[in-house]
Amino acid sequence: MFSNELVMKLVSKKSELKAILEPLRVAGKQIGFVPTMGALHQGHLSLVTRAQKKNDVVVVSVFVNPTQFDNQEDLVKYPKTLAADQAMLEQIGCDVLFVPTVAEMYPEQVSAESFDFDGLEFEMEGKFRTGHFDGVGTVVKRLFELVEPHTAYFGKKDFQQYKIIKKLVKKYDLPVKVKGRPIFRESDGLAMSSRNTRLTEAHRDAAPMIFKILKKAKKKFGQKSIEELTQWVEKQFKKEPLLDLEYFTIADEKTLKTPNEISPSAKYRAFIAVFAGDIRLIDNIGLN
Ligand code: PAF
Repeated sequence: MFSNELVMKLVSKKSELKAILEPLRVAGKQIGFVPTMGALHQGHLSLVTRAQKKNDVVVVSVFVNPTQFDNQEDLVKYPKTLAADQAMLEQIGCDVLFVPTVAEMYPEQVSAESFDFDGLEFEMEGKFRTGHFDGVGTVVKRLFELVEPHTAYFGKKDFQQYKIIKKLVKKYDLPVKVKGRPIFRESDGLAMSSRNTRLTEAHRDAAPMIFKILKKAKKKFGQKSIEELTQWVEKQFKKEPLLDLEYFTIADEKTLKTPNEISPSAKYRAFIAVFAGDIRLIDNIGLN
């Protein structure tokens, strides 16, 4: 983008970010945005590459948002690899890296605003991570208002988050297109996640079972009832002492609710959350 400079711009202040982006917006440049919490992997980079293909300028943010963590230990231990993140982004030609401090994003108090996402926030992750989506909504809204991207990109590993951000944009009439992108997986099927680096060797070896079970559940979908399928999944995880199933849910992609009956016109997805030791992993798969 900045043809006379090869170096990505690294900024931590909202005012600096605005000063860089405003003239580009005025010049009619399309701005693509990839919000992240850092510890970047190929999944994140694929979002950046997509954003580059579709936009003139790409902004990536790295901010470990304290208000979306319901567990302080998870927040403290969340991997922080800024130097490596910066190097990777520079290498693929990202234009702007925004790395704000907590005080920059939360100048008054470090707390989440309250959102009504029409019930999407009470399903699955919402049942197990109190206040999580208020935290996500708060930070993503602030980032959108700051970056004012034309399009923002999110991975579908966090499918519920993706749906909630679409809802946020609709409810607040934010002028940004929200694009969901496919899940990136390791060669053994484990969904890429910044948390994977914290797995012990034994838990890392056990973790590919999560996607294997999702794929088997997909095959069985339509042959077994939702209840039978859920029980079957629960039984499989009881056989693996290293993995502790938190939930397996089949839900309608639109409402994120488990249907009483399968409708041929609706789209369904299986969602799963599993503890591998104290690391919580989530994944999902489209069923039809
Ligand atoms: O998916 C994430 O990494 C985070 O939830 C997000 C969207 C960057 C908000 O902090």
